Amino acid sequence: MRKQIFAAAVLLLSASFLQAQIKAPATIPTYKNAKASITERINDLLKRMTVEEKAGQLNQVNGGVFTGPAANDPGQKAKMQMTREGKVGSFLNVIGVKETKNAQKVAVEESRLGIPLLFGFDVIHGYRTIFPIPLAEACSWDLVGIEKNASIHAKEAASAGVHWTFAPMCDISNDPRWGRVMEGAGEDPYLGGMISAARVKGLQGDLSDANHIMSTVKHYAVYGAVEAGREYNNVDVSRVALWNKYLPPYKAAVGAGAATVMNSFNVFDGVPASGNKYLVTDVLEKKWGFKGFVVSDWASFGEMVTHGYAADAKDAALKAFQAGSHMDMEANVTGKYLPELLKEGKITMKQLDEAVARVLYFKFKLGLFDDPYKFSNEARESATLFSEANRAVALEAAKRSIILLKNNHDVLPLNASSGRKIALIGHYANSKEDMFDFWIANGTANDAITVYDGMQKRFGAANVSFSKGYNDDATTNETLIKEAVAAADNADVVVVNIGLSGKMAGEDRALGNINISDGQVALLKALQKNGRPVIALVNSGRPMVLTQIQNYTTAILQTWILGTETGDAVAAVLAGDYNPSAKTVMSFPYALGQIPIYYNHFNTGRPIPDTGDQGWKSRYRDQPNDPLYPFGYGLSYTNFTYSGMLINKTAIQKTEPLQVSITVKNTGKFDGEEVVQLYIRDITASIVRPVKELKAFQKIFLKAGESKEVKFTLTAKDLSFYDAEGNSIIEAGAFKVMIGGNSKDVTEKDFEVRN
Ligand code: GLC
Repeated sequence: MRKQIFAAAVLLLSASFLQAQIKAPATIPTYKNAKASITERINDLLKRMTVEEKAGQLNQVNGGVFTGPAANDPGQKAKMQMTREGKVGSFLNVIGVKETKNAQKVAVEESRLGIPLLFGFDVIHGYRTIFPIPLAEACSWDLVGIEKNASIHAKEAASAGVHWTFAPMCDISNDPRWGRVMEGAGEDPYLGGMISAARVKGLQGDLSDANHIMSTVKHYAVYGAVEAGREYNNVDVSRVALWNKYLPPYKAAVGAGAATVMNSFNVFDGVPASGNKYLVTDVLEKKWGFKGFVVSDWASFGEMVTHGYAADAKDAALKAFQAGSHMDMEANVTGKYLPELLKEGKITMKQLDEAVARVLYFKFKLGLFDDPYKFSNEARESATLFSEANRAVALEAAKRSIILLKNNHDVLPLNASSGRKIALIGHYANSKEDMFDFWIANGTANDAITVYDGMQKRFGAANVSFSKGYNDDATTNETLIKEAVAAADNADVVVVNIGLSGKMAGEDRALGNINISDGQVALLKALQKNGRPVIALVNSGRPMVLTQIQNYTTAILQTWILGTETGDAVAAVLAGDYNPSAKTVMSFPYALGQIPIYYNHFNTGRPIPDTGDQGWKSRYRDQPNDPLYPFGYGLSYTNFTYSGMLINKTAIQKTEPLQVSITVKNTGKFDGEEVVQLYIRDITASIVRPVKELKAFQKIFLKAGESKEVKFTLTAKDLSFYDAEGNSIIEAGAFKVMIGGNSKDVTEKDFEVRN
């Protein structure tokens, strides 16, 4: 009997236990509950994390390859072990679905809390389909196209498991000796801001799908002002210059919703950017309301010791954290020292949680907690990378980046069906690797269509000969010059590819000499002798000094570094399939000694007059003040005239808009596009203002013979400037408004702003 009662009791208990289980399903942690809000999930996760795990989220490590033989590499094994211990929040330079998925699995399935990793990578102008360098792309002045291009960069990178790119670079620079001018959008704050914002929007979308990635506003701040254009060099600019010249593009990119900001290597006001509270907290966070997170540049936290600002690595970690910089790229100080600094009371748990929350936010926002392998689809990767559709977009971007600098006797375009013989000369024209710069990402040189490939396709292989003309390092080779002259003697037209190797564009590519090489000048001189038209293509990641080739060239196309579709783009412009519409966003110096040179300069107390006595004025005795080609300059195969400029009032209140219009006419025989540029000048103000400031532009298409009235509205924002504290000010007084097809040839009207 007793046994029956016991058995019955066991049955009863187990039934009620089961019942209990069915009623209350096992509760999953809030941070794993996709139905909870991101804030709830972050707060729940922070409660569960150890201090070491929190510090780990602020640690970014250079990844590379973890599979195959690398899996046994002690260094790589150590990085995976750190990942298991929750000491890595992000890897950079782990690319491809296979590699990123492998590393993500370790983080998600082998660590205590399964926090997914962020994979970052330098997708600067394309991931596998490589687009024109950003400086070239900027010369299109095509904001819609630029955003579209960025969306392709993101789509390819996302398909390969990348969540985050360290782009756009928003540094304003007036110094083409700096190798990194190729990464930016030129010398103008307004245009730089518009382009940076377009790049952020194209890269990120709303970060809700697996085709967009986080962007990075870099290098914050003022890195483009490195003295003498020398990489990693000192920066020393005033706060007035900071606010009016250098910050606008960063601000615009942050305003466009950029997820992250990257510290620059330089100091500002004597304090390294990584530890600069004024820049990172006072301006970025408090004035601009930035809510994302700040990542260092490569080891820049630790470099504060070398700068002489931090006493040691631990002090560097503290100074970076206290300034408001969050994630440590490869200095290995934050992950190592924050737990100690917390114990010592030098930082608070609240501060640490606030920093970690910013990183976790994007891991939730990207959906990585709910689907860590959302970006890890190998079939999608192979279908997306280097697709015909992506290449078509890159080709369009390349055509629109090419600037026609000179076209004497309208020698261009060339008639592709004439059967005329073309001697294509110059090593770069047949060098796949020179179609790319330092930031080739996951592109491969073999993908490139060279200028020679493109011209053979477009003009017929039998009509295009090739000869090198100079050594691979651009030095003189008399034998190659003789061969080139012989080729030219058997041709009707000579096209010479000069400039710099693509390998001389990018980080750690500062050059003290940006003249065309002696070897290339010698080649041009030799080719000039037989009197045939010589068309120069300039392959470079920066404006070079082109003065010394003026007498030996009939036409010049600035073809920059255009990436995988170079050859087809150059051939299309040479053949007139596309009428070049690009306008330079960076001044081309007349001479090296002019640098830094830019259009939006101050008047000085002794501006040089255009005519009359130039004595005791701001000038050189051995060269002009003006650049060879000014900001905003670029020719077309057609001509545009400007007439009938009107303003609706000659005096406005500060709060009133000013309506401005002008008529532009295409007076040539080709349809074409023109970038109509509007500049202002604030004649007298509490701090002196530049002689010109770009404040609006419109890129218009006009058929041959067509004309159009182009209208602009100037607002108080356009007429304002910043004081040294970053306060935006508009002051009553005299102004000029100027319109033209470049920053030099403008028509103007005077108006007044009244209180
Ligand atoms: C480099 C560059 C920065 C880049 C980073 C990661 O030193 O300065 O622009 O994003 O390191 O490669």
